Amino acid sequence: MKRGPLDILIVGGGGREHAIAWSLRRSPRTGSLYCAPGNAGIAALAECVDVAATDLDGQVALAREKAVDLVIVAPDDPLAMGLVDRLEAAGIPAFGPRRAAARIEASKSFAKDLMRKAGIPTADYVTFDNPVEALSHVSECPLPVVVKADGLALGKGVRICHVREEAVQAVADMMQQEAFGQAGRRVVVESFMTGPELTVLAFSDGRTVVPMVSSRDHKRAFDGDQGPNTGGMGAVAPGADLSPAQEKDLADRIFQPTIDALREMGSEFRGVLYFGLMLTPDGPRVVEYNARFGDPEAQAVLPLLETDLVDIVEAVLEGRLASCDIRWSGRSSCCVVLASGGYPGSYRKGLPIGGLESLEGMQDVLVFHAGTRRDGDGQVVTAGGRVLGVTAVANDLDSAIDRAYEACESIRFEGRMMRRDIGRTHP
Ligand code: GLY
Repeated sequence: MKRGPLDILIVGGGGREHAIAWSLRRSPRTGSLYCAPGNAGIAALAECVDVAATDLDGQVALAREKAVDLVIVAPDDPLAMGLVDRLEAAGIPAFGPRRAAARIEASKSFAKDLMRKAGIPTADYVTFDNPVEALSHVSECPLPVVVKADGLALGKGVRICHVREEAVQAVADMMQQEAFGQAGRRVVVESFMTGPELTVLAFSDGRTVVPMVSSRDHKRAFDGDQGPNTGGMGAVAPGADLSPAQEKDLADRIFQPTIDALREMGSEFRGVLYFGLMLTPDGPRVVEYNARFGDPEAQAVLPLLETDLVDIVEAVLEGRLASCDIRWSGRSSCCVVLASGGYPGSYRKGLPIGGLESLEGMQDVLVFHAGTRRDGDGQVVTAGGRVLGVTAVANDLDSAIDRAYEACESIRFEGRMMRRDIGRTHP
């Protein structure tokens, strides 16, 4: 990759992409920065172009038109659809896994089979393509049980069923009613695990895997981990106080074997791999993989990164991650998501957001935009379920949490919804 400033396109337009843009802007190696489609916050850091993340032709054409040196593909859908393959075929370096490797997120059965084959600890499971067989299985398997749609379902394709009727309903919804379209034609039925959850994002060049600071996401809509699942209502980093022995155990039993298994099947993984873990009484187990930075986890983790993100991305693409020195600040962070009233159900859009300017330039406070846009009068308005991620960084987690909540109070929009216990409970 060339030595001078790099012109970079970020694909996506949520809080994660804003955090990536913010991190890239700190690098003296970032030249022109583009984001498609972007949002009102990203527009302060990058030229936003209205091309949907899933418009593969449009994204390739944009990368060509802007003659970028690098594209970072951040969301799951374009990765699963093969945007990285398309960009590479056009001679454009792209950060993110190719379609074959992105199956680790796009197909739950693929991920489970990979883990079984490689001996990576995870819950026992059975995969079904036939609804009658699936219904028969959940009518007699031990409870609780977890029913997962095989494909991508906006984080909503997982049902934890404590009673028989729920399990039967989950299978019927996914396989017969097609609640998630094609994504639910195949289901994975897993045994239930207990223990605190932990996210570890890791950079990989296909051979070396380097975990980032751990994080912890809060997926339920309401305090005390109640209510429906969401994309994530907030995150803290670090997510756990892991001992060096625990870190080594995770690396030896989960992180490295996953990367090796993908490479050995010819699906080398280059990019960020998300390990969704559960620390069960019997040791850590993989709950899920994602083929990208988590959101909101990225909004908590990236502010703690001290190494230049451009250098890391380049090392990944050039297969020399092993010699890249990746450093973290040693501080803590908390990201609280401000969501639209009604989320994750239906919600209003176009509501004016007040108070953003009062947080601009504030030390150790970052406001990442997720669902925002500017209306015709230049006013920033709500444009999605998750609207903003307010991140605070401090020397300890309690201070980061307090500071994030203090900052949230400055931001106003009708129906503003947030959890009050981010970082204070342990999902
Ligand atoms: N926070 C969960 C995810 O990014 O999928």
